[in-house]
Amino acid sequence: MPATSSSYPGKIILFGEHAVVYHSHAIAIPVNQVRTTAVITPLIQYPPGSIEVSAPDINTKCRLNMLAETDPIGYAVRLTLQKLHVDKPPAFSIHITSNIPIAAGLGSGASVSCSIAKSISTYLGKPFSPVEISDIAFEVEKLHHGIPSGVDNTVIAIGQPVLFQHGEEIQSLQVGETLNFIIADTGIKAQTGEVVGSVRLRWQADPTRFDTLFQQIDHIVLAARDAIRIGDVETTGKLMLKNHQLLQDMEVSHPALDRLVETAMSANALGAKLSGAGWGGNMIALVRENALPPLENALLQAGAVRVIRTRLESSFEESHV
Ligand code: MEV
Repeated sequence: MPATSSSYPGKIILFGEHAVVYHSHAIAIPVNQVRTTAVITPLIQYPPGSIEVSAPDINTKCRLNMLAETDPIGYAVRLTLQKLHVDKPPAFSIHITSNIPIAAGLGSGASVSCSIAKSISTYLGKPFSPVEISDIAFEVEKLHHGIPSGVDNTVIAIGQPVLFQHGEEIQSLQVGETLNFIIADTGIKAQTGEVVGSVRLRWQADPTRFDTLFQQIDHIVLAARDAIRIGDVETTGKLMLKNHQLLQDMEVSHPALDRLVETAMSANALGAKLSGAGWGGNMIALVRENALPPLENALLQAGAVRVIRTRLESSFEESHV
């Protein structure tokens, strides 16, 4: 069997995080500037079923059977083999590298799972479809994150901007005008599962208040879908800010995120919000092209540990994928 490799992007949520767990819509886009790559190399001299795993970014280098049942990499490898109905594959090593910051709202976990599922299924001659890859990443997300919406694994496996709603057909986005974004990292790590769990507890304590917040966010997401479609950049920016305010009401922001949002707005961003689970991680700002360099400088001066530029290119056909 020849060596194979596969690579998947990170992701960013433009609108609708948290509410999407409660069946509202969300808009998410792949971030190709950061990626995970998995490389499979046959281990010729080894007996069938031998699998070596290395992931230097998280100091992992061992045999698969040394990884706990709940280890996300081990789980993704085992689940992939199970779905392929392969018990003892020809021996191989899998080497995983990623420059997607971990626990920062950029989908590093889902990107790793997608890379594992794709590379192993290709190595064994039965490459999975994007939907099968997304399903495996979704199962792995459940390990540490309880009840994920599925938006992260979907946008990463498909590699296209999506309008997502749990359990509904995925729609790609039509983009009337190219949008430029800066993603700025607070450097504060936050576990998605913990933030999602805390929202759930507070929703259970006050369902009326939280259902109202989720509905307000759903309206924003659908209005943003329309604004993006017609290339109304100003309205898209204003809706980002409104979404951020509702996430603050939901108590998932953080002073460092609020500071970056304020900095972005005072440096001529059209809109800004936290992205992902919150309590740290990344903020995303919508910016006119000529304002990109000064805004990046302002965000770094305000404490961002890293900035990434990304774009939503005009124009994607709106269709079912
Ligand atoms: C995490 O990237 C996005 C959340 O909405 C959780 C989820 O959708 O599963 C916070």
